[in-house]
Amino acid sequence: MTIMRSSGAGTSGEYDPFAPEVLEDPAPAHRALRDKCPVHHYAGFGEKGFYTVSRHADVTEVFGDVGLWSSEWGQGPIYTREGGLRSDPPEHTVYRRLVTSAFTARRTAALEEWITATAAGLVDGFAGDGRADLCEAFAVPLPVLVIAEILGVPASDQADFKEWSDQFMAGQNAADPAVQGAARAKIDGYFTGVLGRRREVLAGDGPRALPDDLLTALLTAEHDGRPFTDEELLPLILLLLVGGNETTTSLIANAVWRLLDLGLWEEVRARPELADAAVEESLRYDPPVLGLYRTSTRPVVLHGVEIPVGAKVHGLYASANRDPEAWDDPDTFRLDRDLNELRRRHLSFGLGRYLCPGAALARLEARISLRLLGERLPGLRLDGEPTRVDSFMMWGPATLPIAWSV
Ligand code: HEM
Repeated sequence: MTIMRSSGAGTSGEYDPFAPEVLEDPAPAHRALRDKCPVHHYAGFGEKGFYTVSRHADVTEVFGDVGLWSSEWGQGPIYTREGGLRSDPPEHTVYRRLVTSAFTARRTAALEEWITATAAGLVDGFAGDGRADLCEAFAVPLPVLVIAEILGVPASDQADFKEWSDQFMAGQNAADPAVQGAARAKIDGYFTGVLGRRREVLAGDGPRALPDDLLTALLTAEHDGRPFTDEELLPLILLLLVGGNETTTSLIANAVWRLLDLGLWEEVRARPELADAAVEESLRYDPPVLGLYRTSTRPVVLHGVEIPVGAKVHGLYASANRDPEAWDDPDTFRLDRDLNELRRRHLSFGLGRYLCPGAALARLEARISLRLLGERLPGLRLDGEPTRVDSFMMWGPATLPIAWSV
């Protein structure tokens, strides 16, 4: 079990993204990469290893040039071919349009009251206890319940839905792929049933007879003059689940942890107008996704390093977010940064054509969480060491012990 550390001494020697001290506190290793080795080759993974770029300008370049740096082979270090949103234009554009037309700002904003009530319901469940694991009690269940509501999973099915989603996430780190496969089959089976029933309603009574939710939007969308099939929609639904849950959990837990650890919690609690700045600075300072991968489509030379065609390149958002070429005082968590500048420049939601369509929703959930936890848990404090999520590409607590006065 790896602990999360706030800061650390400088690192020396060869960069190893899997080394325990790097997992515990990646910032010093990222600083050394930016300073000494802006294009790094790590040989210890698979046959070819992978390259890492760490400067803001280079990370922006890699994720911005979709012709040179392909998404076709997956966003992780392993070569996969999933298609759908995990692809390059023009295929990506079809699915991207579908998601952005269904996942609108209007739909997100309309949820504010529902999210607040749901979050308050979760807090009611543990506020009298005086201590809790924030992740288990709050930051894990909230995003799952929210995405279930957005998709249109009825309240009566939400407990099952949460269980499958938890199993799916747990399966990501299981050695046996059957664990994840079983959870995926349950999720796919459930949505195949829902989509089928809704298609019957659509055929009989038309679109007005369907609920106004994301599933209906996905079901009624068309491309090339025809609706999307289940085979096309199911991976997308799964991506909405997986892409949005652990990341939003980490954003909420990272923000609470960092504000408490740095003694800034009371200031944000007393001045709720600081919540937006706190969420955005948390995203910059502690990005839930430390970095993602692209694959080179031709040989390229970067900072004098020859990268062959078909090479995996890890673009480190976390490092770009602390590059002194892009930020003043990058290693200080500050609540007085310009909000627009922060939003424009940190890379924690990716960028360009692949920019996260769930960003507004994640921000909303985090803002509501900070306000509510401040109101309902007086004297909130850390109550032990947080442990780290079990993936070298992600950054956030798996457990975050907290205590407060009752
Ligand atoms: C703090 C929370 C979140 C973080 C840090 C985050 C991060 C990211 C990043 C870095 C990307 C870019 C992927 C790439 O370039 O290959 C992305 C894409 C995506 N995210 Fe998020 N995300 C968050 C929340 C959400 C939520 C709440 C949802 C939906 C419910 C969501 C759905 C997606 C989808 C569907 C994509 C793929 C977009 C595309 O390929 O065009 N994310 N996210």
